[in-house]
Amino acid sequence: MIEVEGLRVVYKDVISVLHGVSVNLEDGQITTLLGANGAGKTTLLRTLSGILQIYDGKVLEGSVKIDGVELTRLNPVVITRRFGIVFVVEERTVFPQLTVMENLRCAASSRRDRDVARDTARVFELFPALGYKTACKSGYMSGGEQQMLSIGNALMTRPKTLLLDEPSLGLAPILVKEMFKVITRINVESKISIFLIEQNAAAAMKVAQKGYVMENGRVVLEGTREELESNEDIKEFYLGADGEGQKKDYRQSKRYKRRKRWLG
Ligand SMILES: Nc1ncnc2c1ncn2[C@@H]1O[C@H](COP(=O)(O)OP(=O)(O)OP(=O)(O)O)[C@@H](O)[C@H]1O
Ligand SMILES: [Mg+2]
Repeated sequence: MIEVEGLRVVYKDVISVLHGVSVNLEDGQITTLLGANGAGKTTLLRTLSGILQIYDGKVLEGSVKIDGVELTRLNPVVITRRFGIVFVVEERTVFPQLTVMENLRCAASSRRDRDVARDTARVFELFPALGYKTACKSGYMSGGEQQMLSIGNALMTRPKTLLLDEPSLGLAPILVKEMFKVITRINVESKISIFLIEQNAAAAMKVAQKGYVMENGRVVLEGTREELESNEDIKEFYLGADGEGQKKDYRQSKRYKRRKRWLG
């Protein structure tokens, strides 16, 4: 289990972004994190993965522990290699000059075992669209294909926990559905725990066992899927009055301003 306790994080020593955030990620589960733009969701993932420093961020207080072992302020390579926590950032991260196959091999380059071929086959099973493009230069592929490949690259490192930052962002509706199916398969079949940041709240809550809502650097709501789905505020602000009101276009949802009454 990953336990985040009372995290306070600043950027550039003065910009205070997380004000005492606590979340628990149970092994084997999908946990989702919802929240408006600028709430601090990505900052939380940067802290968990250890890449916060790259952004001139600092942990002032609090801790991140995995099975009781302190991870706070460890280097990201150690966090990935020793603890199997892998962050798939919002910006698609592929090696643009390399083909799909080269990307996957490269992502697995630090491994010493011989199952690389089996794992590449698994990536193509999860994302058949990539299987048809093994020899394509990834930099020329569509945004959706690059998104699949960045998750594929992450899987090649054999993670225990995947941190996914808005994996459905900018995908066509049919691909969004497919993406959530794949996320569930990765969780159930490969037994990988997932921390899922999403704007697409209705879809995220369908696949998650548990969720958190962040607002202005604080967790303002948490609960099981059932608790969150029946919460009036969640229904109104995230799911729409009829429970089906997913934002059709992410720019619309990005601009979506919620009332502040959760803090009140
Ligand atoms: N490197 C940085 N330096 C200074 N401020 C930053 C930096 N990165 C993020 N911030 C600020 O921290 C706050 C939280 O940003 P963060 O990216 O964590 O939010 P988010 O919840 O992921 O938002 P979104 O839904 O838009 O992705 C924002 O006000 C943002 O401007
Ligand atoms: Mg973000």
